[in-house]
Amino acid sequence: MPAHDVLIIGAGLAGQRAALAAAQNGATVAIMSKVHPVRSHSVAAAGGINAAISVDDDWRSHAYDTVKGSDYLGDQDAIEVMCSEAPAEVMHLEHMGVTFHRNESGEMDLRAFGGASLKRTAYVADITGQALLHVLYEQLMKHHESVARFEEWFTTSLLLDEEGRCAGVVARDVRSGRMEAFTAKNVILACGGAGQVYKPTTNGLIVTGDGIAMAYRAGAPLMDMEMVQYHPTCLVETGILITEGARGEGAHLLNSDGERFMEKSAPNKMELASRDVVSRAEQIEINEGRGVGPGGSGIFLDVTVVPRKRTLEALREIVNLGRDFAGVDITREPIMIRPGQHYIMGGVKTDVDGRTPIEGLYAAGEVACVSVHGGNRLGANSLLDTLIFGRRSGEHAAARAASMGMPKVATLPALRADAEKIDAIISRPHEGRRVSEIKAELGEMMNQQAAVFRDETGLQGALETVGRLREEADRAWIDDRGTVFNQDVLGALELGFLIDCAETTVVAAIERKESRGAQYRTDFPERDDAEWLKHIEVARGPDGPAVSYSPVTITQWEPEERKY
Ligand code: FUM
Repeated sequence: MPAHDVLIIGAGLAGQRAALAAAQNGATVAIMSKVHPVRSHSVAAAGGINAAISVDDDWRSHAYDTVKGSDYLGDQDAIEVMCSEAPAEVMHLEHMGVTFHRNESGEMDLRAFGGASLKRTAYVADITGQALLHVLYEQLMKHHESVARFEEWFTTSLLLDEEGRCAGVVARDVRSGRMEAFTAKNVILACGGAGQVYKPTTNGLIVTGDGIAMAYRAGAPLMDMEMVQYHPTCLVETGILITEGARGEGAHLLNSDGERFMEKSAPNKMELASRDVVSRAEQIEINEGRGVGPGGSGIFLDVTVVPRKRTLEALREIVNLGRDFAGVDITREPIMIRPGQHYIMGGVKTDVDGRTPIEGLYAAGEVACVSVHGGNRLGANSLLDTLIFGRRSGEHAAARAASMGMPKVATLPALRADAEKIDAIISRPHEGRRVSEIKAELGEMMNQQAAVFRDETGLQGALETVGRLREEADRAWIDDRGTVFNQDVLGALELGFLIDCAETTVVAAIERKESRGAQYRTDFPERDDAEWLKHIEVARGPDGPAVSYSPVTITQWEPEERKY
């Protein structure tokens, strides 16, 4: 049975950065992912990565912008760690070979992004995540002697020892269907968010909340789950992301009257207010009949105001996306967009070293909630989060591994239980509903009831629907009965993970009776610091999700009214 000092689940940026850090600190490492690492969802982060590297900038300004962007729900000690370590991390990436865009003087160029006081976003055209991912993967291969790669292995559950410490995982080899238990001194979850809870979403099909649900099932608390980010510029039909880099380069948002409506809600920052503010403003235009396109369900993003040469150079990916998915040449005409689910601020509660309350279990990246994003993440802070907390988790886990022996854990019962569960799914009779139908209903319902605007009636309805879908999912059938690349059976397991994520999101959204960041309750339209300046945690109790609270850490920025 394979045994490692540090076992990392997920091979996007957080996972790969954790693997490198752990290996460089002397640990034996394994990194496991359900897809090939360069297909991880980090590839989709387009517009850039924030760091106060300009001579006019200071990490404290970055930290303040992040605190304000979070609507004061972010923990300021964690935000200080992320922002103060950002410049060195970006320089380290550059030295490893990331071809960041340079200005005419040959210095790293920085672009504007939402909620930032000044230009602070380093970028590689509009494929920044992809560029980072490939460079890190090269580095990982350099460390092939100390980092074992298990590519296309699907993790089904976490292994806990008798004292409740995390001591490994059970996983299925996607290529053959073989089940295996992996023992480890430490497990780092780095397997992304849960965007597929929603339909549409900017997130890839692989983003199914696996790590969040596995940690929750193992007893770890989830935090800030009500905070779901809608990105302001997604294609209307498909939800495909059109990078915030477009607005950073100067693109305008227009309603059906041709008005730059952001003047009403963010007269200073306009299109570059924080994402929650811009998405709400767009939704108001759409709801009040000033939307564009069929049914008035969109808003125009006008990139034609950006010089064409600059668009072709710095936004080339969205030129392709506009052409291929909307039939629009964005250099010549506006493109129709609308707010779409993009990111979850919540996740498995961790400290700044990635430690969860379960000993031996770490989390980093979107699966985790440190909480550096609080109620709303600033664009280009997610790549940063993955790298800073991926590295810190890897370093901490390596140090912990050096001080302990390999845990003793009975692997057979968990291995058998997971194998039997999979066999049962494969042999279900073709009665009831298909997995794919249930997933589609879940996504569309969440996009109605737990979206930019929410209220008690909609959220209670959502909770009821999630309960019914859970029962249906327990009986849902699949077509593929084979062992080789059986994506159908993985889809059934993922649906279970998604339902856990949806349920905890809705429970937390019902609990928070105020409007803050991405959670706007039409029945509680004001922010209420006296009652709700606190995190909501959801843990798995004997009767379902159990809610508790924890304080927000404030170091130097007292909450004030947020204006852009
Ligand atoms: O719009 C974007 O390029 C997305 C970036 C992010 O979510 O950080």
